[in-house]
Amino acid sequence: MGTGRRPLVAGNWKMNGLRAHLALVGEVRAGYDPGLARSVDLLVCPPATLLHAVAEAARGSGIAVGGQDAHPLAAGAFTGDLSAEMLADAGASHVILGHSERREGHAETDALVREKAFAAIRAGLVPVICVGETLAEREGGRAIAVVTGQIRGSVPDDARPDRTVVAYEPVWAIGTGRTPTVADVAEMHAAIRAELAARMGGGAEDVRILYGGSVKPGNARELLAVENVDGALVGGASLVAADFLAIARAADRS
Ligand code: PGA
Repeated sequence: MGTGRRPLVAGNWKMNGLRAHLALVGEVRAGYDPGLARSVDLLVCPPATLLHAVAEAARGSGIAVGGQDAHPLAAGAFTGDLSAEMLADAGASHVILGHSERREGHAETDALVREKAFAAIRAGLVPVICVGETLAEREGGRAIAVVTGQIRGSVPDDARPDRTVVAYEPVWAIGTGRTPTVADVAEMHAAIRAELAARMGGGAEDVRILYGGSVKPGNARELLAVENVDGALVGGASLVAADFLAIARAADRS
């Protein structure tokens, strides 16, 4: 953890959640006590159908709400897509972009992710730009080259460091219960910070770099203590309020 960067713990609900599950937000809100709120930022990214309702349920709590994807354009004939402006209108302040499930399942390239990040900035949203290597890339010794290449290709030149979040999520760690070693996480986050510094100069110190991939209450403290790990992007465990809150408490350095 570098000085000046508040930890951010973000929940990515993915394609999970009906209105019947909105109580989860109330539970997270109830556990986000003033002590925790003083030192850790929370972000909840529900499916777009629940954005407005989650934003209403979180109103006044300090819990931020985000989308999970956005189209590069503000409006137009793009059936089924949502613009960053629409997410903002529904109550979002952040948007996850380039998650590996979108890079893989929707053939999203670095160039497209960068366009989406431009769109987020245009709409006043904080982009949470995801990067991460596959197992074959790690085993081939190419993890750092792949991830720093994704940073170069996906992060817009004019991104404001203090309004940019990067999430390092090794593809093989997502939803598998497997995590990289603490040494591997430290090496990767330092490489990401250096790549950002090459682009942004000293401002790169203000970018929050989250670790994601099988973060659970049992491993959060160890992962969140790694230098340059400024929080977590949490999938499965963000669907259980007690687990999400335990991870948030593990991020508290105060
Ligand atoms: P997981 O997902 O915590 O369920 O591994 C993380 C993510 O994909 O953001």
